Amino acid sequence: MTDPDLSPLFKPLALGNVTLRNRFVMPAMQIGFTENCGPSLRTIGYLRGRAEGGCGLIFSESCAPDHPSGYWQGAFCVMNGETRGRWAQLSDAVKGAGAAFAVQLWHPGGQRRPIEGFPHADAPTLSPSGLIQADREGGRAMTRDEMDDLAATFVRAAEDARAIGADGIELHCAHGYLMDQFLWAETNVRDDGYGGEAIADRARYPLAVAAAIRQAVGPDFLVSLRFSQFKEVDYGARVFRTPEELAEFGALARAAGVSMLNVSSRRFGKPEWPERDPDLGIAGWAKKLTDLPVMTIGSIGLSTDIFADLFDGEDPGLRIAADLGDLMRRFNGGEFDMVGVGRMQIANADFVNKLREGRYDALRLYNKAVDLKHLMAQVVPGAVEEHRKTAEA
Ligand SMILES: Cc1cc2nc3c(=O)[nH]c(=O)nc-3n(C[C@H](O)[C@H](O)[C@H](O)COP(=O)(O)O)c2cc1C
Repeated sequence: MTDPDLSPLFKPLALGNVTLRNRFVMPAMQIGFTENCGPSLRTIGYLRGRAEGGCGLIFSESCAPDHPSGYWQGAFCVMNGETRGRWAQLSDAVKGAGAAFAVQLWHPGGQRRPIEGFPHADAPTLSPSGLIQADREGGRAMTRDEMDDLAATFVRAAEDARAIGADGIELHCAHGYLMDQFLWAETNVRDDGYGGEAIADRARYPLAVAAAIRQAVGPDFLVSLRFSQFKEVDYGARVFRTPEELAEFGALARAAGVSMLNVSSRRFGKPEWPERDPDLGIAGWAKKLTDLPVMTIGSIGLSTDIFADLFDGEDPGLRIAADLGDLMRRFNGGEFDMVGVGRMQIANADFVNKLREGRYDALRLYNKAVDLKHLMAQVVPGAVEEHRKTAEA
């Protein structure tokens, strides 16, 4: 088999005020190097290394806005007066090495597990309806005042991201955290126009926050929206039950000023609605139905997905050649515009440069025990076992 021609992935892409030098993206990934709720010198060196390694766009690890309910556990970042200087250093370092940089804004919602001694440990844990699954409580339902208050802190965090020199932000609406708890029917049973059966109602709060951010940061700042069908607490979950619901969401996201969709999946290209199309993955559907710039992601180069690996203890094997063939077939077919590579860029700072040079043999296999040593040391005791029990149930 001849190696696929990857050159289309090395064409630049203009997104608002930023032009990516290529289509490779480093997704948001907590790595365990934070200090005092902000990026450390080690975080800065680590992400700069991925920019030097050729990546086009780098998202910071998840960063909470400065709201008491956003502070949770060890391995996390917040955007506040004390951390802003380090965020600026991080942005300078990544951009200085030729990549674009965006801060991922995230809130744990009902998934928060406050630990004694951490800032704001006594603050209430907030979620749309007091649920993190249909039959599993998490936090308490937010009041409308609390929703407004939190939205304002998201906007301030986005303004801060612009002020420290970032090219954009990403609103994390995936994986079962706060914004996704709004999007998912199981965890959002509000009856105040912000929840219930209709996707337009469940999307109202996340997209109101996106629109307020867009209003504050101006027309050209990158505002990415990340969503996923699956949740960390339920691999089989579906926010969008039909392509029509996804199309409706896409139109609303576009109207809110979202500039790209980061479509998070466990395995890129896995057919999403096989009864409607035997081949099209969720990113492909998003591209077809919304026409926003779309990023795909999920196990590129690896045989097992992130959750099999993190929670079920299944070590991945390499799958470079087969994955690149399928990736290029889909990219050339117009299914997505950008390609997110997570664990293989943790393991290989120069993943992108090695692909460009065709040096697949020089790629190192990702290994959780080695690559996530610092993060795993900070995970709340019992969290992995809890996931194992619930996600596959
Ligand atoms: C250690 C680790 C930390 C992660 N942290 C985040 C995060 O902060 N925000 C987020 O949206 N996704 C997070 N993810 C998910 C990744 O962004 C990505 O979607 C996932 O690893 C799948 O891509 P991959 O199969 O190429 O690794 C994390 C993944 C890993 C492995």
